[in-house]
Amino acid sequence: MDVLPQESLETIRRAKSIIFLTGAGISNESGIPTFRGEGGLWKNFRAEDLATPGAFQKNPELVWEWYDWRRNICKNAKPNPGHLTIANWQKKSNSVSLITQNVDGLHPRAGSESIIELHGNIFRVRCTNCSAKFHLEQVGLDHPGLKFCKHCESLLRPDIVWFGEEYDQTLLTKSWELCKQSQIVFVIGTSANVSVPAQLALTAIRNGALGIEINPAETNLTTSMKHHFGGKSGEVLPKIWNEVFPNEPLD
Ligand code: APR
Repeated sequence: MDVLPQESLETIRRAKSIIFLTGAGISNESGIPTFRGEGGLWKNFRAEDLATPGAFQKNPELVWEWYDWRRNICKNAKPNPGHLTIANWQKKSNSVSLITQNVDGLHPRAGSESIIELHGNIFRVRCTNCSAKFHLEQVGLDHPGLKFCKHCESLLRPDIVWFGEEYDQTLLTKSWELCKQSQIVFVIGTSANVSVPAQLALTAIRNGALGIEINPAETNLTTSMKHHFGGKSGEVLPKIWNEVFPNEPLD
């Protein structure tokens, strides 16, 4: 399908609460490889091999090398029309929430402000000893290789939720609450392989939200969605904006 029916357009216009739930796919057109698509590999390692506490304990240099490589890709990438459309929507109405699995920092750079970064942020680090957190560029730690705490000189790690680790409970509670009270949930660029984000989308739908998925591929969420757009979010999202707000050009 390439347009939304009038009934759904009206539902979106009347919605008191809208949620955008995004995954790596929304950043694919910015040149950041997704995790499970082609290009998601690095020196034949998968994210599952490196983004774990065990991998960091065993070989922190290798894990930092991977994150330095990914961070540089993110730093050199630019937000695309998909990120920018969500940022416009959040500027237009304070009832638009953004929950992202992405750590690439492109949503804040696109102008989105209230963002729940479920999996953390690749530009933030935290101390393995005193848990102090730093923004790499602000404390001059944006260099390759091992990084050490400005407070206690212990080893720093990326402030990212690794496989097998717990989510930040505050962020999670806030995400469940938002999903329970939303009327619209856009699920964009996620394979729904990770259970919590997938369950968040299903919670919204079970609570009556209209589900709209944007993904060139179908996922195990597709059958629960009211609408599935089999396209690229950088192309589809601006189109949806123009259909919902025909007299308001995107910034
Ligand atoms: N527009 C929309 N969707 C796209 C685009 C695009 N231009 N390009 C690719 N996709 C879709 C793919 O079809 C795929 O379904 O984006 C999805 C990306 O899936 P994954 O690579 O699994 O990324 P994601 O779902 O975000 O992974 C979730 O898993 O590895 C962990 O913590 C990591 O946050 C990540 C989590």
